[in-house]
Amino acid sequence: MIICKSASEIEIMREAGQIVANVLLKIEKILEPGITTIEMDRIAEKDIRAYGAIPAFKGYSGRLSSKSYPASLCISINEEVVHGIPGKRKVKRGDLVSVDVGVKKNGFFGDGARSYKVGQVSSTANRLWKATKEALDMAIDRCKMGDRLTNISNCIETRADRDGFSVVKDFVGHGIGRKLHEDPQILNYGLPGQGPALKRGMALAIEPMLNEGGSDVVILDDMWTVVTADRLLACHFEDTVVITPDGPEVLTRI
Ligand code: MF3
Ligand code: CO
Repeated sequence: MIICKSASEIEIMREAGQIVANVLLKIEKILEPGITTIEMDRIAEKDIRAYGAIPAFKGYSGRLSSKSYPASLCISINEEVVHGIPGKRKVKRGDLVSVDVGVKKNGFFGDGARSYKVGQVSSTANRLWKATKEALDMAIDRCKMGDRLTNISNCIETRADRDGFSVVKDFVGHGIGRKLHEDPQILNYGLPGQGPALKRGMALAIEPMLNEGGSDVVILDDMWTVVTADRLLACHFEDTVVITPDGPEVLTRI
């Protein structure tokens, strides 16, 4: 069942979304060669709590893993697709770093991710970054009342195809609201014109995951980190979007 949000619920989600956007902006500023991923996580958690919010991922347990998630951010570098656990690893020049943050504020969730290029990256990394970012922007443009859900999915796959990249099939975007993961699931591939019609007040976390090589992924022994099976590069962007009569409203951008 897809839950449509009322105007007052959207107002609360706006607040959660803006916290996500601000935390991502802060991360962009402090992301420099030599910083460890746990340092980034500590700074993000402190900020989230200073905003009066709760880190949504910390302690998360559910269908994604049998182990509860230990941090506030997911930081996934190069061949890591999503759900990388912060630790002692230092970010290096040339890395492609995806940072994913979720918060809960006044009972509602916000969820967003950006991939950052650390210094100069390879031309492939540049192309993959651009394709993933554009896939998200194009998908958001598809969020119009009355349009069908899988237009979003198809649009992401089509953008990936254009550059010869693949999309991850084992992880998906999702509805969001009083829970981090609500219906519907939003695949990053598939035929257009299917699934439910988009209605006013639907809130969606759209998250394209594009791979340089094949679409297969594997989960590391830490039970969380998702890496490409061929260990080629991956890239991830995510925004929380709400369907309005005036078009999509992106809650996780400033
Ligand atoms: N944005 C991701 C998602 O929606 C992050 C989940 S991390 C977890 O699946 F720890 F919460 F699982
Ligand atoms: Co998400």
